[in-house]
Amino acid sequence: MRKFINMRTELPGPIAKSMLDRRIAAVARAPYHTLLSFIHHAHGAILTDVDGNTFIDFAGAIGTLNVGHSPKQVTDAIHAQIDQYIHTCFHVVMYEPYIELAETLNKLTPGDVEKKTMFFNSGAEAIENAIKVAKRFTKRRGVISFERGFHGRTYMALSLTSKNKPYKTGLGPFLTDTYKCPYPDYYHMGSLSEDALDDHLLQRIEQMFLTEIPVYDIACVVMEPEQGEGGFIVPSQKFVKGIKALCERYGMLFISDEIQSGFGRTGKFFAIEHHDVVPDLITMSKSIAAGMPLSALTGRADVMDAADIGEIGGTYGGSPVSCAAALEVIKLIHSENLLERAVELGNQVRLRLTGLQNTHDFIGDIRGLGSMLAIEIVKDPTTKMPDSERTNRIIKYALDHGLIILTAGIYGNVIRLLYPLVISDEQLQEGLDVLAEAIEHS
Ligand SMILES: Cc1ncc(COP(=O)(O)O)c(C=O)c1O
Repeated sequence: MRKFINMRTELPGPIAKSMLDRRIAAVARAPYHTLLSFIHHAHGAILTDVDGNTFIDFAGAIGTLNVGHSPKQVTDAIHAQIDQYIHTCFHVVMYEPYIELAETLNKLTPGDVEKKTMFFNSGAEAIENAIKVAKRFTKRRGVISFERGFHGRTYMALSLTSKNKPYKTGLGPFLTDTYKCPYPDYYHMGSLSEDALDDHLLQRIEQMFLTEIPVYDIACVVMEPEQGEGGFIVPSQKFVKGIKALCERYGMLFISDEIQSGFGRTGKFFAIEHHDVVPDLITMSKSIAAGMPLSALTGRADVMDAADIGEIGGTYGGSPVSCAAALEVIKLIHSENLLERAVELGNQVRLRLTGLQNTHDFIGDIRGLGSMLAIEIVKDPTTKMPDSERTNRIIKYALDHGLIILTAGIYGNVIRLLYPLVISDEQLQEGLDVLAEAIEHS
C-alpha cells in the first residue's frame, strides 16, 4: 500500500488514450515522451494525470524543478507580474526584474570579479551566445567541448554536443572549428588510476593543439562540471583545474555549462564550485525559473561587453514573467536550505542504491554529486557492457507503478535521479521503494 502513489488505471488511462490519439494525429513524431499520459496538475514532487493517477516525480522536467512543481511563492510572483505587464521586449522598453535578476546572478555565480549577465529563453540559446561572446572577446574561431557532452539542439550547440542518435544523425554538416576532447569516465576507463587518467587525458588535449587546431586559434572550452545527458559523469577536481590551467596558459575562456547541474542540484549553487574553479562564463537554465522558459549567461564584465550593441539578443529573452519567477526561485533555495537538503537527500539515495548494488551486480556504478545521482546498468560488472534492455525494463516498471524517472548516457543505460529538492523524506523513500521493486523485477 503506497501513501503518495495511486495508480487507478493502466497507462495510458482512457482519457490520456484519447489525448494520445489526438497527439499522434496533430503533433509531429519527433517529441519524445517518457510518460505515456498527460498531466492534470502537480505540486512539489507529486504529479496527477488526467485519469487521476498520482505519481512521484523523480524527473522534475529533466532537472527543471529543483524547487518543485508550482511553488506558491513562484506562482504568486508570476500572477503579480502578468497583472502588471507580460512583455515589452527588453530591447524596446526595459523593465526592472531583468536588472534585479542580473544583479542577483552577478553576485551568486562564482568569482569575485565584476560580472554582467544577459538572458535568453533556452539552454541552447545561452550556449550559442556564450560562444559568440567568447569569439568576439578572443577574436579566435575554435571551440572545444567534450565527448558525451550535451549542450542543446541548435546548430552551434549541436555541433558541440557529442551524441549522434537521436540528436545529430542526418543533420550535418555541423559547424567547423569545433573539437571534442575526452572527458574522464573513470568507471569505463579504469585501467589507469584516476590520477594517471587525468594526466593522460590532459596530455591528449595538449597534443590536439599540435594535430588539429593551433591553440591560439581556440576561443573557449565548454564543459559540464558534471555531465548530464552524458550519464552523470563527474570529473576530478584535478582534471577540471587542469583544463582551467590550459585556458589560462593559452588565453582560452572557460565556460561552465550549468544548465542541468546548477541551482542547487549538486549541493552547491553551481557544480563548478565543487571543483574550486572560477569560470569566465557560466550558462544557466532549467531550474533557474521553476519551469518558466529562461536561460542566462553570466561572466566577466570585460568578456560580456565584447559583443556590440544589438549583436546578441532576441524578442523574448529574459521575459519579465520568467525573471520574476527566477527571483523567487533563488529566494526559495536560500529560505528552504535547499543546498543542504540536496546533500541530505543525496546521502539517503546513495545509501539505498548501495544496498541495491550489493545484491544486484548489474548495477555497475553509482555516481554523482549531491542530488545529481545515477546508476549505470551493465550486463556484468567485469565487462561493464551497457545493458539498455534491462534499463528500459526498469524504467517501464517504474512508470507503470507510479514513479517518473529518466535514463541518460550514450547507450541509454544510466538511470538518473532529478527529483525536486523539496521532496519529503517519505516521498523520496516511497519513490526509491518503486525503483527497488523495478530493479528486482528486471
Ligand atoms: C548541460 C546542458 N546544456 C544545454 C542543454 C540544452 O538546453 P535546452 O534544452 O533548454 O536548449 C541541456 C539540456 O538538457 C543541458 O543539460
